[in-house]
Amino acid sequence: METKPKYLYKNSKRLDGRNLDDYRKMKIKMDVVPNAQGSAEVIFGKTKVTAAVHGPRVMHPRRLALPDKALLRAKYDMFSFSVEDRKRPGPGRREIEISKVTAEAFRSVVFLEKFPRTVIDLFVSVTQADASTRITGINAASLALAAAGIPMRSLVVGVTFGKIYDEKGVGHVAIDVDKPEDQWGMADVAYARAPATGDVVLLQMDGDMTKEEFDKGKKMADKAIDVVYKAQIKALKDKFEVSK
Ligand code: CDP
Repeated sequence: METKPKYLYKNSKRLDGRNLDDYRKMKIKMDVVPNAQGSAEVIFGKTKVTAAVHGPRVMHPRRLALPDKALLRAKYDMFSFSVEDRKRPGPGRREIEISKVTAEAFRSVVFLEKFPRTVIDLFVSVTQADASTRITGINAASLALAAAGIPMRSLVVGVTFGKIYDEKGVGHVAIDVDKPEDQWGMADVAYARAPATGDVVLLQMDGDMTKEEFDKGKKMADKAIDVVYKAQIKALKDKFEVSK
């Protein structure tokens, strides 16, 4: 969307017809990259992200290996045609930052100490972007790691939330922000949790929110996270039951 819209929320509906606490249509597909140890695609509306896990395997060069645990690396990338204006290929500052926070989100969750001197590589590829790609990537990566049989203390589940304005300029808290809401909205938060340990593993905010707005958004996102968590568990159960 080129020009700033007059509102992102009107008559109790967002521009795409959603309520404030609706997330977009979600889909999970397992085993989308046959060569990987584990892989999954997660779709939220028009945002589509594939994650693939390679490893644990022996680290080369050996000097980079950690003596007491595995090194978990992540590489987040966006296909050039995943956005409206063709994205310059290759990693920029944004991709480097998202790769870093993605790896960090999983380091406290994966039992890295079980695989000393190895490397676990996580590849996150955005094939279509309509905002919230880092969180969609985290959901896909959680499934890919579990599908690879890598022991984890918890799955990792995320949902974004933000603040969008109505025709009077008043802010409203909404979950799972799309591109116009991310681009023009007053704030957006990337938020991911490890439900089994209770830890927050990723939290980043752009823009401004009051503490009350933040708490409200987090509560709404937590409700959606419960649903996405159940969907992750179901996708894994279906996969392992079928492949038994
Ligand atoms: O994707 P996410 O919300 O995690 O991160 P962001 O940096 O806040 O990017 C928000 C959205 O902007 C992306 O999901 C894309 O839809 C869009 N974008 C784009 O159109 N061109 C880029 N070079 C980077 C992002």
